[in-house]
Amino acid sequence: MNVRKAVIPVAGLGTRFLPATKAIPKEMLTVVDRPTIQYIVEEAVAAGIEQVIFVTSEGKSAIEDHFDYNYELETVLKEKNKDDLCEELCHISNLIDIVAVRQKKPLGLGHAIWTARKVVGNEPFAVLLGDDMVLSDPPCIRQMLELFDDVQESIIAVQRVPLDQTNQYGIVEGTKKRDRTFRVEHLFEKPAAGTTTSDMAIIGRYILQPDIFDILDDTEPGHGGEIQLTDALLSLAKKRSIYAYEFEGTRYDAGDKLGYLKAIIAFGLRHPVIGGEFQEHIKEVCKNL
Ligand code: G1P
Repeated sequence: MNVRKAVIPVAGLGTRFLPATKAIPKEMLTVVDRPTIQYIVEEAVAAGIEQVIFVTSEGKSAIEDHFDYNYELETVLKEKNKDDLCEELCHISNLIDIVAVRQKKPLGLGHAIWTARKVVGNEPFAVLLGDDMVLSDPPCIRQMLELFDDVQESIIAVQRVPLDQTNQYGIVEGTKKRDRTFRVEHLFEKPAAGTTTSDMAIIGRYILQPDIFDILDDTEPGHGGEIQLTDALLSLAKKRSIYAYEFEGTRYDAGDKLGYLKAIIAFGLRHPVIGGEFQEHIKEVCKNL
């Protein structure tokens, strides 16, 4: 079955980024010339996804507005003959079909995904977490969809992390099945360093079979008192196969101050218009350190 829909949870408060996120959603922070959420939506579009479902909350309307038409702005730009800008804005509004559902209480990632169940329906779907920006060609979620075509089972993106950082991630234990692909045997949400020998950390890209919704119905709060997607995935793994996929590319944690700066540099250096000049600037800065 084809994956047509992507759930993107955007209800988080962005406390790691205060005070910048006091009045604007963290997903609207800019990397070079676009808010981070646009990169995530563009990744879904590039993978052939047809509909994005934002799981949103109060104070996040700027995200939906960003992907909507702004007739007033477009009229002003047209009057001023700024056709290029106008076209770019239209392109963003036409990117993809967007649906928004509200997560009324901050009960965790598992609960956020469960909130989208009625819009997703009974079909496999993708999940992309806005904090994780992935620089890769082909896009990370597309690599996973290629594997999904073959296995038709849920897939979690993973990357290797130092063992003393396991407490920052969901951790997967599994057996290697083929290049970059592991059959998941166990999952732990943010285990303390030294309590697992696996260094395979979950990154914010998933392809999920819809059975996960029934499991989430009954998933009790776990780590941090929140309903964890990782715990629901562990239950799913006991019923049918789940795969972990070590994607090709580099992931940036754009929800963290240092990770965000790294993302700006990585995406800035590759920018088609200003990338060259930015490279020269960075070289100059490094020389003078
Ligand atoms: C979530 C997941 C975690 C995963 C991480 C990736 O945690 O619960 O398993 O490793 O995303 O970014 P969060 O960072 O939202 O606390």
